[in-house]
Amino acid sequence: MVIAQLLRGKTVCLTALTEADLPAAANWYQDAAFLRHLDAEPAAPRSAGELRPWLDAAQKSPNDYLFAIRSLAGATLLGYVALDGILWPHGVAGFSIAIGASQHRGQGYGREALTLLLQFAFDELNLYRIQLTVFSYNQNAIALYEKLGFHREGVFRQFLRRDGQRYDMFLYGLLEPEWRALAVSPSGADPT
Ligand SMILES: CC(C)(COP(=O)(O)OP(=O)(O)OC[C@H]1O[C@@H](n2cnc3c(N)ncnc32)[C@H](O)[C@@H]1OP(=O)(O)O)[C@@H](O)C(=O)NCCC(=O)NCCS
Repeated sequence: MVIAQLLRGKTVCLTALTEADLPAAANWYQDAAFLRHLDAEPAAPRSAGELRPWLDAAQKSPNDYLFAIRSLAGATLLGYVALDGILWPHGVAGFSIAIGASQHRGQGYGREALTLLLQFAFDELNLYRIQLTVFSYNQNAIALYEKLGFHREGVFRQFLRRDGQRYDMFLYGLLEPEWRALAVSPSGADPT
C-alpha cells in the first residue's frame, strides 16, 4: 500500500490550514464574484479576524476536516477543501471547495484537490456518501463535480435571489462504489 500518496497529488497537496494562512485567505474574501459562487451568504468582505471562528470551529469539530490546498512546488496557498457535517453512523459528509485567486482557477488544481479529498473520504474515513449543493450559474463547479462522477440528485427551485433574479440550487451526491468504479489515483500511483 502506498500510504505516502494520501493527500499528495502531482501538483498539489492537502495540509492543515493554520492561523498564518488567514491573511491570504482574507484576500479571497474581497472578491464578490468568488463569494457569490461560494455560498449564499451576503457577498461582503471579511477580515482575517472574521475568518478565525470558521477555522476554530473546523479545528474543534470531530465532524469536519478542513485542508489547505498548497502547490507542491513552493507550498503556495491555493485554496481550501473541506468535509463537513460528517454523520458517522451513516457514513455521510458534505464538502466545500475553493480555489481562492482567479489566476489559480482553471489550471486543474480544484480537480486534483477534490480527487485527493474523495480518496481521503472513502479510503481513510471509510465514508459512503459525499454530497454538496451548488448554484445553477456555477457552471465551472458543476462541470468539475460531474467529471468526478457526482450525480445531480435534486433541485432546490429558485433558492437564491441575486440581482433581482432567482436561481436554482442543485444537490449533487457521490456514493463510494460509484467513486471506486471511476477512481483514478491523484498521484498516478496504484493505491494498492
Ligand atoms: C469551482 C472551482 C473549485 C474549480 O476549481 P478549478 O481549479 O478552477 O478547476 P479545474 O481547473 O480543476 O477544472 C476542473 C474542471 O472544471 C471545469 N472548469 C474549471 N474552470 C473552468 C473554466 N474557467 N471554464 C470552463 N470550465 C472550467 C472544467 O470542466 C474542468 O475540467 P477540464 O480541465 O478537464 O476541462 C474553482 O473555480 C473555484 O474555487 N471557484 C470559486 C468558488 C466556488 O465556486 N466553489 C464551489 C462552490 S459549490
